[in-house]
Amino acid sequence: MSYYAYELSALKRAGRYRERTIYDASLIDLASNDYLGLAEQPSLAERAYERLREQPSHGAKASMLVNGYHEVHQAFERALCEANGFEAGVVVGSGFNANVAMIEALVRKGDLLILDEQYHASGMMAARLVEGEVRTFAHNSVEDLAVQIAQGKGKRIIIAVEGIYSMEGDLLNEAIIHLANEHDALLIIDEAHSSGVIGTNLMGILDFYGLPVRPNHIKMGTLGKAYGSFGAYILASAHIIDFLINRAKPIIYATAPSLFDTLLADESLQYIQANVTALKADIAHKRQLITGLFGIESAGLIVPITIGDNHRVLDIRDQLLNAGIVVGAIRQPTVPEAIIRLIARINVDDHVFERISALNILR
Ligand SMILES: Cc1ncc(COP(=O)(O)O)c(C=O)c1O
Repeated sequence: MSYYAYELSALKRAGRYRERTIYDASLIDLASNDYLGLAEQPSLAERAYERLREQPSHGAKASMLVNGYHEVHQAFERALCEANGFEAGVVVGSGFNANVAMIEALVRKGDLLILDEQYHASGMMAARLVEGEVRTFAHNSVEDLAVQIAQGKGKRIIIAVEGIYSMEGDLLNEAIIHLANEHDALLIIDEAHSSGVIGTNLMGILDFYGLPVRPNHIKMGTLGKAYGSFGAYILASAHIIDFLINRAKPIIYATAPSLFDTLLADESLQYIQANVTALKADIAHKRQLITGLFGIESAGLIVPITIGDNHRVLDIRDQLLNAGIVVGAIRQPTVPEAIIRLIARINVDDHVFERISALNILR
C-alpha cells in the first residue's frame, strides 16, 4: 500500500476521513457561515452584476502591483476603512491568504509572535514560515499571554487573536486587547466570524467593546462568511498596509481579488449598514432562541455542541441529514473533541431549531 493510501485508511479507522459532498438544495443549511443569509439574497448579486457591467473588463487580470488594482477594489477598501475607523486597507484573495500575508510579512527576525492556541490553521501554518520567535498562549487567557510576553525574547511583539473563535464560538477576552495596547504590541485580530455579527454597527470586536482603533491594531475580515461573497481584507495604519503591499507575497504574487466578488461584498457592506437595526434584532432573537433550546450562550451565531466521540458525531450529522438539515460534524485536528457545529443563521425559521431540539439527539 502506498504511504498516502495507508494514511487515508488510518484516517477512516479513526473516524477522521473527510469527503466533499454536494448537498441537495432542498436541505436546510445550518452548516455554512452565511450568518445573515446574504449569500442567498439575489438582489445583492444582481446589483453587483449591474455594476460589473459598467467596468471595462470583468476579470482582475493581474496582480494589484501590476495593473490588476481597479477602482472597484479601491472604493471597497475606502468604504471598509470608513465603516471600521481604520486609516488604510487592502483587499486580499481570501482569509487564508490574508493570514499568511500578515504573519509571514510582519514578523521579522528578532520579533516575537504570540498566537492564541486556537488561532486559525492558516495563521498557524504561516507561523512556521517566520524567522522570529513563535509562541502560543492558552486559549483566551490574558494571564498566560502575560507569561508568554515575559518569557519571550523577541523585541517587537505581535499578537494574533480572533474576534469570535471559529469553532467554540467564544468572544475575544477584552483584557487581551488592553494588554496588547499596554505593551504597544501589534495586535492582529482575525474577524472572520465576528465582522457582520457583533458590535453596535456590526463591525466586529472593537465595535462590540466600544474601543477606539489604535495604530497597533490590525483587523482582518473575510468576505465569504457574513458578507456572503468571497475574499478578504486587511485594515491597519497606513504604513503597515504600505509595508504589506511591498512585502506580503500573497498580495504581490497573486491575481487581484475578483471584481464581481468585491462588488458583491461592497453591496453586502451597504446592506448591513442600511439594515443594522433590523439585523441586530434578528441576531439577538436567534441567540435567545438558542439559549432557550440548547442552554448555550453563544457570543455570535456559532453553536458548538460537544459530542466527544467521532463516530457518534457523524451518526448525529447523518440523522439530522435524514431530517433534512445540514450541520457541521467537526473532528480533530480542527477541534480537540468532536462537536456538532450548528450555525444559527438568521434567515432560517425558528421552528427548524425547535425541531432539532425536539429530536433529542444532541447529547
Ligand atoms: C478564523 C478564520 N480565519 C480565516 C479563515 C479563512 O478564510 P477564507 O475562507 O476566506 O480563506 C477562516 C475560514 O475559512 C476562519 O474561520
